[in-house]
Amino acid sequence: MIKIAPSILSCDFARLGEEAAAIQAAGGDWLHVDVMDGHFVPNISLGIPVVQSLRKATNMPLDVHLMISDPGAYIPQFVKAGSDWITFHVESEGDPVKNIQLIHSLGVKAGISISPDTPVQVLDPLLPLVDLVLVMTVRPGFGGQSFMADMMDKLDYITKKCLQLGISPQLEVDGGISRETAGIAAAHGARILVAGSAVFGKPDYRVAIDEIRQAALAHC
Ligand code: DX5
Ligand code: ZN
Repeated sequence: MIKIAPSILSCDFARLGEEAAAIQAAGGDWLHVDVMDGHFVPNISLGIPVVQSLRKATNMPLDVHLMISDPGAYIPQFVKAGSDWITFHVESEGDPVKNIQLIHSLGVKAGISISPDTPVQVLDPLLPLVDLVLVMTVRPGFGGQSFMADMMDKLDYITKKCLQLGISPQLEVDGGISRETAGIAAAHGARILVAGSAVFGKPDYRVAIDEIRQAALAHC
């Protein structure tokens, strides 16, 4: 019903494999992997070799979130590295339909993400094509920012649109998710919750994941 996807962006990178294993042991459902190129967003995070290493360290689904300018140029390498889900931004370069088709042709699930300043209607033609829609609840680029509750209108719009179309892509939220905000997102239809600092910033990952999950389940 609810999946928690801890974001590896907030982990101790010197202990990458241990951190991934700890998240799996703590009951994390997916591992969210934030890829930033210093161009699409004003930050540089990690790339293909890190996804490859994570693939060896865990069998959790790898939920790769590409915050890069030209996703089409790198999708094949991220697939080869072991991604299970690849989500790119509707604001990035290239034809989103072609990128979705490319991801699918390589046997991986495709997601589309939308940044806070982008009107949700741009997603209309893409909704029937994707497996997942990722609504950003912070400006992409950094962990530890505050949840933007005004993005809930986008979740409502997407939910209504998908109902009209008779489709049901996964609905994911990313940014500022904690036990305080998870319920709000779940009440508006989010079923996959990404959480970075609210998991890795806590001493006990299991407790942190459970608290976020319970808060969400209470509002489904
Ligand atoms: C932001 C990333 C998020 C980030 C979430 O650009 O896409 O996944 O790691 O971190 P928190 O949960 O701390 O907001
Ligand atoms: Zn992310």
